[in-house]
Amino acid sequence: MVKSFKIDAATAKLVEKSTLLKVLNYIDTVELKTPVLLMDGDRIRRSIATVGRGIAGCKVFYAVKANPSVEVLRLLAGLDVGFEISNFGELNVLSALGVDPERIISSNPVKTVDFIKAAYAYGVRYFSYDSLTEIEKMSQHAPGSNLYVRLAIPNEGSEWPLSKKFGVEIEDALTLLTRAKEKGLNPLGITFHVGSQCNNIYNWNIALDKARLLSDMARDAGIIISLINIGGGYPIKYTKSVLSIEAIERHINRLIRERFYNAGDLGGGGITVHLEPGRAVVGDAGIMVSRVTGKAERLDGRWLYIDVGVFNGLMESIGGIKYTYVTETRGAGGMKDNWTLAGPSCDSFDVIDKNVQLYEPEVGDIVLILSGGAYTISYASEFNGCSIPETLIV
Ligand SMILES: Cc1ncc(COP(=O)(O)O)c(C=O)c1O
Repeated sequence: MVKSFKIDAATAKLVEKSTLLKVLNYIDTVELKTPVLLMDGDRIRRSIATVGRGIAGCKVFYAVKANPSVEVLRLLAGLDVGFEISNFGELNVLSALGVDPERIISSNPVKTVDFIKAAYAYGVRYFSYDSLTEIEKMSQHAPGSNLYVRLAIPNEGSEWPLSKKFGVEIEDALTLLTRAKEKGLNPLGITFHVGSQCNNIYNWNIALDKARLLSDMARDAGIIISLINIGGGYPIKYTKSVLSIEAIERHINRLIRERFYNAGDLGGGGITVHLEPGRAVVGDAGIMVSRVTGKAERLDGRWLYIDVGVFNGLMESIGGIKYTYVTETRGAGGMKDNWTLAGPSCDSFDVIDKNVQLYEPEVGDIVLILSGGAYTISYASEFNGCSIPETLIV
């Protein structure tokens, strides 16, 4: 039976029409086992054709952690893009797909020795770091590798901040660059991350100011910085409009030009830029398809239970990411109502969102979760016997 969804104008602006139509068409023609993540392959291709294009000298490395499904990685392996990895599992999938090591970098500042050995043996030669112990590990197990030091920068205005765990201030970064050189490594670069889903364009200003300052100090210490790895952070539309990739890259490109080309001689032969987008490549290409498992009237209002929740796909919902939901509706009438949305496990932590305005669905009806392609299945567990959504390219 053809399913019916009421999609209002505000919601329609948050998703690409072609992606939505593809998904709606797919769920009408195929008997789906939910939860399932449907990924629009054409949308991923278009994202790859867009990211990095506005920044001169930019090479793009997809951050595998955003969506490491084999289906997505196979598609990306056939495109002109590199990969940023952090651990064994990510390396294993790429090597099984036969991805050339020159297309792979690792920006996890603290890596396991086993991973360093495996990545180095495979041929990976670009790694980030932010501690002296990492230099020891790298000099022993990945001699001569190209290193980029991770700077601490503000993540103000980013919906998923990444500043608390990694990154050092400029003085310490200089020490790390110097020490890496003494240990026979090639400390050629600087990296940072403005925070994921970054809605504050000025985070890139501060980051690149700091990078420039560190580059000057490095040059005075006899180290030439020739690589700026600007991490990820590009935002996508979840519940509101965001700055376009084109606008963000125009801004970043200007900042890099001003700081690294017109502001004096860094003593090298120019700057290469590495970009590691994750969310912006796969996030809005994905629509999570779930089903209503139950409804309840409780003292605090109406509750809707669905078969994907905090533990098996929507982990980011408890850390600040708000999704947009589209419910299947039977019949034309009805107003939106206020719902608490919860997942399928017995844990009371498994509450996805509160005060969500939804047209009322029935048990067994479909609930679409828009922009569900990034950091969903990569965080998912089988806690409480719940299944991890399969990923299908449509
Ligand atoms: C080192 C590194 N690079 C890139 C990314 C991708 O960031 P985003 O998905 O915001 O583009 C992350 C995200 O955690 C990261 O830690």
